[in-house]
Amino acid sequence: MQSFPAWVVRRSESEHGHGPASAAFETLDADALDDLSGDLDTVVRVEYSSVNYKDALALTGRPGVVRRWPLVPGVDATGVVLETSGSTWCPGDVVTLNGAGLGENLHGGLAGRAHVDGSRLVRIPSTMSARQAAALGTAGFTAMLAVLAIERHGVAPEDGPVLVTGAAGGLGSIAVALLSRAGFEVTASTGRVSTQSAFLTDLGATAVIDRGELSGPGTPMQAQRWAAVVDAVGEPTLVNAVAQLRQGGIAAACGLAQSAEYVGTVLPYILRGVTLAGINSVEATPDERVAAWLRLERDADLALLDGLTAVAPLAAAREVAERVLAGDVRGRTVIETGR
Ligand SMILES: NC(=O)c1ccc[n+]([C@@H]2O[C@H](COP(=O)([O-])OP(=O)(O)OC[C@H]3O[C@@H](n4cnc5c(N)ncnc54)[C@H](OP(=O)(O)O)[C@@H]3O)[C@@H](O)[C@H]2O)c1
Repeated sequence: MQSFPAWVVRRSESEHGHGPASAAFETLDADALDDLSGDLDTVVRVEYSSVNYKDALALTGRPGVVRRWPLVPGVDATGVVLETSGSTWCPGDVVTLNGAGLGENLHGGLAGRAHVDGSRLVRIPSTMSARQAAALGTAGFTAMLAVLAIERHGVAPEDGPVLVTGAAGGLGSIAVALLSRAGFEVTASTGRVSTQSAFLTDLGATAVIDRGELSGPGTPMQAQRWAAVVDAVGEPTLVNAVAQLRQGGIAAACGLAQSAEYVGTVLPYILRGVTLAGINSVEATPDERVAAWLRLERDADLALLDGLTAVAPLAAAREVAERVLAGDVRGRTVIETGR
């Protein structure tokens, strides 16, 4: 029986209930994933995963992501199909999976092996390597879903600038690059203006603002600045960003790195006709996944992507997670599961 390395999040249990969760780097037997593999038809040898914000929470034992224990964390898995009982994939296919319960209620990608639902897999575009697909990962997939939502809303580059918050993070940095590539004028909001302005400008931002401009209490209706917003951070930044949307604009709410609260008024919605669109990468349908990855194949600038990507071995994932939560990581960190 072949064993493989994996991070495992466990929760201590006692007669008084459960204690805090913690993650350990372990060696698992091939059948260790079978407990949650009921409807999962495909086995993948994972070559790359990454540390998204959610993975950082899971790897450091924080609540809110892992919903059953013990569980292998990792919302992304990129690798090679080993075996499948479905008809879509063949052994040897190089595939990627973002979300779909990985690392939340199904064993995830921070391991050498994953059991997945083949209908949620996407074939890696022939133009990019498996490592580059993992660098895009959930962050790039979600950023693309946000761009598609903005386009579906009818916002075009001539309608005005687009604001990206949490811009130096994974989702934010890829959103800046994708929006710029699509012809939008992009303003990047970051807490790291002094160190990351050049990085964000290189990705295509035309302006960089301090996130402090958006993170204090604001009035319900503010000067109209943005045709659209891609938000990675939540309250109060998102409330202020919505209050600054132009007539008919749209904010794509993706994240909660600042707070999950939303304490605003309905005034921008009813007086400016703006829209708040929720972006959910986890539950994206197979068609939505394929559409977003086709656009990533077309629009992702792989040289820029390489420039915003760091690579770390699987054993270092928790250390990366701690740095992510400390706000000390920019762009994306790919995890190589084979080293
Ligand atoms: N909806 C979905 O399907 C989906 C998918 C992926 C991610 N997400 C969510 O999107 C968010 C970003 O994910 P990620 O993986 O890109 O994380 P990340 O790489 O850690 O980036 C988060 C960024 O948020 C900013 N930030 C952190 N703490 C903040 C605070 N207290 N106030 C204001 N800004 C703060 C920082 O940007 P600066 O350094 O530039 O200030 C940081 O780099 C997370 O909440 C994640 O759960 C949602």
